[in-house]
Amino acid sequence: MKIIKNSSILSQDYIPDTIVGRAEQLGHIEDLIRGSDACSAFVIRGNPGTGKTLMGKFLLKEMKEFKGRYVNCYVNQTDRSIVSAILNNPNIRLPELGNTRAESLSNLLFKELPDKNNLIVLDESQSLKRSHGQIVYILSRSRELGGPDIKLLLLSMEEPEMYLDMSTLSGLGRYNRVALKEYGADDLYKILESRASNGLYEGSYTESAIARISELAEESGSARIAIELLRNSALYAESRNVFLDEESVLQAFRDFSPPLDDSSLINLEDDELRLLKTLLQSIAPESGFKTSDLKSLNAGISDSKLYKFLKTIEMAGFVKKSRIGKGYSGGVENEYILRVSRKVLLSKLTMMEKSMETPGRES
Ligand SMILES: Nc1ncnc2c1ncn2[C@@H]1O[C@H](COP(=O)(O)OP(=O)(O)OP(=O)(O)O)[C@@H](O)[C@H]1O
Ligand SMILES: [Mg+2]
Repeated sequence: MKIIKNSSILSQDYIPDTIVGRAEQLGHIEDLIRGSDACSAFVIRGNPGTGKTLMGKFLLKEMKEFKGRYVNCYVNQTDRSIVSAILNNPNIRLPELGNTRAESLSNLLFKELPDKNNLIVLDESQSLKRSHGQIVYILSRSRELGGPDIKLLLLSMEEPEMYLDMSTLSGLGRYNRVALKEYGADDLYKILESRASNGLYEGSYTESAIARISELAEESGSARIAIELLRNSALYAESRNVFLDEESVLQAFRDFSPPLDDSSLINLEDDELRLLKTLLQSIAPESGFKTSDLKSLNAGISDSKLYKFLKTIEMAGFVKKSRIGKGYSGGVENEYILRVSRKVLLSKLTMMEKSMETPGRES
């Protein structure tokens, strides 16, 4: 039975016409961007799949009075490549002598951009943690630095305090921020319902299937996971020649591992990356691990650090709580299982290590 009418609507890049459940946050950030003269940097923060990228792209489309630019900082991590992306010019030339690199970059950028109404969206901006660049400083203080009017919107999973230095932060107000909460089952249902009615054949799926996906995805609060489960369920039903009903959702969910995107490791600090590697090397994939196992792998780790680590790898979709338990000497003893292929994750970690060791990474 044909289920999928238009697969692009089930893809993660698809931009829907309406954004479910975010009217208030959208309105707020638009008012901030339009209304503020004194400050020019804004932040949308939220966990994976809470709609940051979608909101950023939507604002660029909506706010027509601005000349908009979208840059993904995971893909473009150095100051130079970000400037290239903003100017849409892969071959920017910097003078060899005279100014510092940051000055040359800002001179070039300021010369090329219009004087007014620039809106620059830096997505995945927590990726800048590793490159120690100055681009956020330059963009958020363009006027002080004699440049054009730029409104800068940072989209990130973490608060800027986690990835910007003090001098950049001091230009960033506390009140120019919008936090996106994880989606509940009702919002996920609406998001899925609109994707299904546009992307699937009428009559090929049941309402209860959509409701079931929303319930299953609610734990993550992520629209990304919900949409991916919808897609997998549709593919499953199609391959078995059955309706997309609750049964096919449950079958698809059995084999479901949430999408692992390239940036999923970026939120881990160096010591957390090492801990993850040790963990992966020490656990038996079928049997999972407990909070206390992790503690014995790294005896020195504090409870708050441990909790943050677990939360981060859970949000990234690497592990899932399989049982919530009561305390081991003062802490919480949960059980986790691995949700992704251990081999794939280990190879990602190795690649990441290599890229960090590479000498002379441009800044
Ligand atoms: N409120 C919403 N209404 C409709 N679709 C949504 C909504 N929020 C998210 N989506 C869809 O869910 C998917 C994930 O959203 P998005 O990529 O914006 O999340 P994100 O917060 O940027 O996640 P990440 O941190 O992983 O980059 C996208 O396909 C997006 O179109
Ligand atoms: Mg995103």
